Amino acid sequence: MDQKIALITGANRGIGYEAAKQLVALGYKVIIAARNNAAREKVAAIGADFLQLDVTSETSIQQAALTVIDKYPQLDVLVNNAGVCDDDNKSVFQLTKKIFNRSFDTNFFGPLMLTQALVPALQKSKDARIINVSSDMACLTTGTYNSSAAYRLSKTALNSLTQLFSHELPPHIKINSMSPGWVKTDMGGEAAPRTVEQGAETIVWLSTVENIPTGKFWKDKQEIGW
Ligand SMILES: NC(=O)c1ccc[n+]([C@@H]2O[C@H](COP(=O)([O-])OP(=O)(O)OC[C@H]3O[C@@H](n4cnc5c(N)ncnc54)[C@H](OP(=O)(O)O)[C@@H]3O)[C@@H](O)[C@H]2O)c1
Repeated sequence: MDQKIALITGANRGIGYEAAKQLVALGYKVIIAARNNAAREKVAAIGADFLQLDVTSETSIQQAALTVIDKYPQLDVLVNNAGVCDDDNKSVFQLTKKIFNRSFDTNFFGPLMLTQALVPALQKSKDARIINVSSDMACLTTGTYNSSAAYRLSKTALNSLTQLFSHELPPHIKINSMSPGWVKTDMGGEAAPRTVEQGAETIVWLSTVENIPTGKFWKDKQEIGW
């Protein structure tokens, strides 16, 4: 059987790196897309490929997509994992447009532009998956209150993007959002109750499970409300 190929953005550390390790262990060819060249050694250490990618740069996205289309026979999994949360505890009244721009550039426009650019590679897979790494803080029913407003709104917009794409992508490309929960990483901090293994579990499950639906929001391998 042909080896499946997965690309994970921002996978040089944190949840993305753990998901990469787990997919390598399951026999996937994993492409770690990171903006920092210093990650190359760490990437090679787990037997993954390195791809230079800054998700906030359209030029970098176009270049990375050309490399993927040129170098690999197809793309089976795209995990839009790269993210920033730099508006800690700020209410919507305290945020500048600069902070909103930074959150949206990375957490929303990055996945949007990269997904558009990689559809030709995903089209070549028989059963392709796109996983948008979202957050509990995106939930309209439970999560959208006043702290980290730019982060919350960017992830809520990402969830809407998941739904929009699900209606426009061909049936063999499934797209879903997921929340890893509160995870001990540079972003989540030391107080977080979840390990990176727990944070990556649903990403790996959505990447590998048979017959996944499209256009849904997941946590702990269960569908959750938007
Ligand atoms: N940790 C949590 O509690 C938690 C909860 C809910 C959702 N999430 C989501 O889970 C995902 C992973 O977060 P994490 O906790 O693993 O955070 P993390 O340890 O801070 O890792 C974030 C990753 O994103 C990368 N990144 C940021 N901006 C980028 C850009 N412009 N281009 C390419 N890569 C970029 C970082 O690369 P550099 O090393 O170059 O900075 C890093 O590899 C994020 O989408 C986050 O919003 C996390």
